[in-house]
Amino acid sequence: MKVHVFKDSQAVAKAAAMIFAAQMSEKPDSVLGLATGATPVETYKEIISLYNDGQIDFAKAHSYNLDEYIGLEPDHPQSYRYFMQEQLFNHINIDPQNTHVPSGIARDLAAVCAAYDAAIKSDGGIDLQLLGIGKNAHIGFNEPSDHFSKGTLVADLTESTINANAKFFDSADEMPRQAVSMGIASIMKSRKILLIALGEDKAKAISDMVNGPITPQVPASILQLHDNVIVLLDKAAASLL
Ligand code: GLP
Repeated sequence: MKVHVFKDSQAVAKAAAMIFAAQMSEKPDSVLGLATGATPVETYKEIISLYNDGQIDFAKAHSYNLDEYIGLEPDHPQSYRYFMQEQLFNHINIDPQNTHVPSGIARDLAAVCAAYDAAIKSDGGIDLQLLGIGKNAHIGFNEPSDHFSKGTLVADLTESTINANAKFFDSADEMPRQAVSMGIASIMKSRKILLIALGEDKAKAISDMVNGPITPQVPASILQLHDNVIVLLDKAAASLL
């Protein structure tokens, strides 16, 4: 795990965007694993700015998002499909057909999960996976548990995550309690992983991920076993390292 600490969130975002630019120039048909949440918003802005400057071309890219809330239509303002359209896809030249966010509204969610893993595989696997991290060290929506998950799954959200994300909904009751999420094994298959974390709220999760034991109670700790992980932090997120 290579950990880099930057002076502020903007410096983190610029560094993360440069890693995307390098990936796309090395392999124009890259399969990108994308993340939602507050953390990557600035990174997506920097990526859009590089795209507008002609420094990244997404014409041949494919993307797979980590997760989606169960029960939210794609056009719900808090759905992760809507987030991706607004924050990134509408502003770059990725082919809409090549962008994938799991469905949270299909009747057969088990089929959605199986098809998602199969689609990633048939596109050749994820080249670069962007991750944020939850306060409880979840990645995607893989919450602390007594085991590491395997493929894409229907995940129950913990109180910690519900409390952290409820602020984005009009009322806490509207916040979904479940999500479709890539599993830990799906994430670990990515060739390169780029995890970004900002703010003091994430300092404990980052310290446990980097220096703690590898345990499903700290889902991100499994990344210690991956040999190509880059971690970009602002000073506050790195404060307990
Ligand atoms: C969310 C997402 C994760 C994200 C994390 C942190 O619930 N499922 O992919 O990394 O929680 O979110 P934020 O960046 O808003 O702190």
